[in-house]
Amino acid sequence: MTAGIKDKIVVVAGASSGLGEATARLLSAEGATVVLGARRADRIRTLARELEMRGGNALAVTTDVTQREQVKALVDASVQTYGRVDVMINNAGLMPQTPLERLKVDEWDRMIDVNIKGVLYGIAAALPQMQRQKSGHFINVSSVAGHKIGPGFAVYAATKFAVRVLSEGLQEVKPYNIRTTVISPGAVATELPNSVTDPVTSKRIQTFYEQVAVPANPFARAVAFAMSQPEDVDINEILYRPTKQEV
Ligand SMILES: NC(=O)c1ccc[n+]([C@@H]2O[C@H](COP(=O)([O-])OP(=O)(O)OC[C@H]3O[C@@H](n4cnc5c(N)ncnc54)[C@H](OP(=O)(O)O)[C@@H]3O)[C@@H](O)[C@H]2O)c1
Repeated sequence: MTAGIKDKIVVVAGASSGLGEATARLLSAEGATVVLGARRADRIRTLARELEMRGGNALAVTTDVTQREQVKALVDASVQTYGRVDVMINNAGLMPQTPLERLKVDEWDRMIDVNIKGVLYGIAAALPQMQRQKSGHFINVSSVAGHKIGPGFAVYAATKFAVRVLSEGLQEVKPYNIRTTVISPGAVATELPNSVTDPVTSKRIQTFYEQVAVPANPFARAVAFAMSQPEDVDINEILYRPTKQEV
């Protein structure tokens, strides 16, 4: 067992697939209790049942992170059931990339709502409880696209830059003994490319992911690394990408 994970109460927003699911699995195997939030209720319920059958504690709470009261209900469920929230993982996201000139304004709105406001709602939901506890840990998910901008990436990259900025801004809650980590992965084989609706961009991204993407488990290990540091050590930023990924 890795230190600092066993018996921790961890809320994962966006736990129904990809990075969130892999993280829930790893942390549960390491003895953490996981509270799973996502819109696809069947997925998180099945995952919770599976983790419980393996001896873990898991709770599934259907959550749309664009709805502030639902994110609050997710965190409240953790506090009501397990008494606290030690780690809030703001992972929900989507990436419908397209060139700006296509004016997919509805998709821009959606990315802002999920990738930025969803993270803010996660912070708003968990911060008061962490302040009361005088401890806590936010783990926010940015991207290599939060460091570099490529063609078709402008709005997605803007949301992921914002996640980095918010994460750095969270240093101001240090007086409450709250840690903040932002993790910026490169291409990981998940369902994320399915959110691309533009056929040309979709083909380009699917090909790119087939060539370079790595599995989700290294992300889960990065979360475990940040959580497992001594309480007086705050890992603020982790950026990684597949060895094959140049950009
Ligand atoms: N895969 C990559 O290459 C990569 C690289 C860098 C960063 N990231 C970031 O990693 C995070 C996780 O993505 P992933 O790669 O694991 O993709 P994924 O497999 O598509 O997972 C996305 C997760 O976000 C959830 N989600 C989306 N909209 C939501 C909403 N409105 N409310 C609640 N949950 C919502 C999904 O759940 P439901 O659909 O069930 O709601 C799902 O659990 C995202 O923030 C993404 O930007 C991924």
